Amino acid sequence: MDEHKDRVFLITGSSSGIGEGIAVHLAKTAAGLSLTGRNNVNLEAVKDKCVKEGLSPDKILLSVGDLTSRDFRKSLVEQTIGHFGRLDVLVNNAGMGKPMPISTETEENFDEIMNVNIKSAYFLTQLVIPYVKATKGCIINISSVLSTCTSKIPGNCSYSMSKAAMDAFTRGLAQELAPFGVRANTVRPGLIRSNFLRRDNVPSLGNEGSYNKFLDTRAKENPSGRVGEQEDVATVVSFLASDKASYINGGDIVVDGGRYVQY
Ligand SMILES: NC(=O)c1ccc[n+]([C@@H]2O[C@H](COP(=O)([O-])OP(=O)(O)OC[C@H]3O[C@@H](n4cnc5c(N)ncnc54)[C@H](OP(=O)(O)O)[C@@H]3O)[C@@H](O)[C@H]2O)c1
Repeated sequence: MDEHKDRVFLITGSSSGIGEGIAVHLAKTAAGLSLTGRNNVNLEAVKDKCVKEGLSPDKILLSVGDLTSRDFRKSLVEQTIGHFGRLDVLVNNAGMGKPMPISTETEENFDEIMNVNIKSAYFLTQLVIPYVKATKGCIINISSVLSTCTSKIPGNCSYSMSKAAMDAFTRGLAQELAPFGVRANTVRPGLIRSNFLRRDNVPSLGNEGSYNKFLDTRAKENPSGRVGEQEDVATVVSFLASDKASYINGGDIVVDGGRYVQY
């Protein structure tokens, strides 16, 4: 249980879905959590869940803002260091996607996907590099199985491209930072229960009934007979951040129940 007893984690997109799951899971073992998202109410609710897991409230820092803002990224890192005095692990998890076919995709949609999914992560990481060097920490990028294959939901090309860029980013980080004792790895989830497809991204999945029906269908298609849960990703993130993964650098772990090998 003391796996991460000295480690401070900064987890982007921790107000919802996979990031929330990572935060709640790590609340059992981490020294501190810096949590961030745009939705303040959801972020407070995640904090409550982390406190229920045993982490004291003063070990949880909440920062509300949009990661596409350079000023917000700067203040997020400054606040984290100001509060905890150190940073060990950055989890670049925040992401979005609004499917649009290549033939009709707007430049605005393309830019939003790239800005949120890769540019923000790239420049946030740049700001934390001095701090993870100081702790010989690590960076964990949440990509997707779709970085190397196409989605059954049509129109996900720009999303896939942003995740392929995330994979390349991890490899670049691993090479550049290994001499400083800093590791970088990617986690590539398949379909995980979250709010991702229930926003305005896929209007047909917006309500509870249609989303659950969609998950049931996908569970039947999966060799493991289920869709992924947030905990499935969280346990892998915790492992990659731990000393047990000290020789894993520049790698990626697919978390999809075996669905990917069928593509
Ligand atoms: N769920 C899946 O099936 C799946 C599969 C493969 C990969 N992924 C990846 O997993 C990651 C997490 O997704 P999820 O499924 O957990 O989705 P989610 O439930 O929709 O959560 C997305 C998170 O990202 C945050 N976010 C989005 N845009 C942001 C911005 N501009 N600034 C700051 N925060 C922003 C959201 O904050 P607010 O809610 O506060 O706005 C939220 O906390 C994403 O990178 C996604 O691509 C998901």
